Amino acid sequence: LWLAVGIRRRHPGEPPIENGLIPYLGCALQFGANPLEFLRSRQKKYGHIFTCKIAGEYVHFLCDPFSYHSVIRQGRHLDWKKFHFAASVKAFGHDSMDPKYGHTTENLHQTFLKTLQGDALPSLIQNMMENLQNVLLQPGFSPMHTQDWQVDGIFAFCYKVMFESGYLTLFGKELSVQEDQSAARQEAQKALVLNALENFKEFDKIFPALVAGLPIHVFKSGHSAREKLAKTMMAEELSKRKNMSDLISLRMVLNDTLSTFNDLSKARTHVALLWASQANTLPATFWTLFMIHDQVPAPPKTQDASCHPKHPAPRHRLQPPTQNTGSPEACKAATEEVEKVLESTGQRPDPKGPHLTLTREQLDNLPVLDSIIKEAMRLSSASLNVRVAKEDFLLHLDNKESYHIRKDDIIALYPQMLHFDPEIYEDPLTYRYDRFLDESGQERSSFFRGGRKLRYYYMPFGSGVTKCPGRFFAVHEIKQFLFLLLAHFDMALLDGQVKVPPLDQSRAGLGILQPTYDVDFRYRLKAQ
Ligand code: HEM
Repeated sequence: LWLAVGIRRRHPGEPPIENGLIPYLGCALQFGANPLEFLRSRQKKYGHIFTCKIAGEYVHFLCDPFSYHSVIRQGRHLDWKKFHFAASVKAFGHDSMDPKYGHTTENLHQTFLKTLQGDALPSLIQNMMENLQNVLLQPGFSPMHTQDWQVDGIFAFCYKVMFESGYLTLFGKELSVQEDQSAARQEAQKALVLNALENFKEFDKIFPALVAGLPIHVFKSGHSAREKLAKTMMAEELSKRKNMSDLISLRMVLNDTLSTFNDLSKARTHVALLWASQANTLPATFWTLFMIHDQVPAPPKTQDASCHPKHPAPRHRLQPPTQNTGSPEACKAATEEVEKVLESTGQRPDPKGPHLTLTREQLDNLPVLDSIIKEAMRLSSASLNVRVAKEDFLLHLDNKESYHIRKDDIIALYPQMLHFDPEIYEDPLTYRYDRFLDESGQERSSFFRGGRKLRYYYMPFGSGVTKCPGRFFAVHEIKQFLFLLLAHFDMALLDGQVKVPPLDQSRAGLGILQPTYDVDFRYRLKAQ
């Protein structure tokens, strides 16, 4: 009878199990409504590890950070490929990238490491810095001859600037734009990228549903947006572009030489990379820029509106679970760090002058910006780290307990539990820009729980072998964005009393969460 109704019974030595009340779905709805709350309540009831039936799968949630290592360490019992490759196929519609299925022999993991890290990083950073300044300082975006305020939503602003710059950095510029520098040609190129942004946003909306297994045909406009993006990434279109990143040009070669993908499937693998490179970076940039804003009302137009606080900032709080406060001190400390670098490198921000440059070493040596970004991501990240059991095995926890895990079961870590743990991060819902700085103002990397030093305390980029290969580039590009804004612009929130927007939980498990609404700010070029 148990089997007939799809209910699993706990065997001796297995973690406590919750089958949920709904056949097939199990606990999916409760988990989906608020994963953090769900997991915390089950942890209280069952302890460090428990099993939940979720949409037909049995998921073992491991909640003890000292035991994370037993899952993150790539043991012979655990498979990371199965889940990741399957999710990509469901969302993007390409043939499987898993060599096991015979469509390609490419080692995708190696491709990512080779083209996003190490020697590949300096040229990515350099191109991003150029592209960011081209976007931010073009006359249409920030009128240069007047000091007029521009008003925009922080979310809308970050999406426009970072998407365009990141897109051009990965996919290069159209050849025709390189040859014909006329304003009309530049405008046409911009319209194309902004059109891609609209399609990206439309597709991104349905991404959680696709990963959950719903067929894309159900979503007319999301489906059409994905196909439009793929069309712009067919080899014929990409061959018209110059200054492409190593990532995309190498993938094009490997698609052609190692795979049997048809043209559309190849294009869809590029859409997958566009998504991976933007879907987390954009909201992470929003939270970073939002959090460093003064929570003081924008002064009248005649006053100086730089982000230095002129009077004490009222602290404000939000509804749980994203209750946090912005930090005016963050803006001050970041501005000082930026000014110090400008001074030491002898550069002066001038929108009409030469572009600012920052080497990789200089970018690596910005501890305040680093901490500001980390803290914003600690509060907004909700990724799920997943492995699949290749066979029945015994999982050993830190407290010496062992649990039987069955073949094909999923083991999951939900690092938001770490990020919001008051025993690790005091007052965890409050934004503290210097949380990741030590007494000497350098990176802090020692965090403790119950007096024991933690190996894993900050995991917005995942863990182990599936850790995001673009993480170094991602942090650098957000730093570059902040650096340029602080160097060139005065900024202020339109409404200093604005509430911190709650996190949109519908994307929980997929990375950095978006805000449920946008927040207006204004900006203008600094007086020279
Ligand atoms: C995978 C986070 C930016 C490329 C991932 C994963 C996470 C993540 C959580 C999945 C790890 C896992 O499954 O355990 C982030 C965050 C970013 C960011 C928080 C920005 C703040 C980027 C950028 C790029 C990139 C800028 C590329 C330019 C990738 C790729 C994968 C990935 C290719 C798939 C790796 C694989 O399956 O082997 N990222 N990412 N990411 N990310 Fe990022």
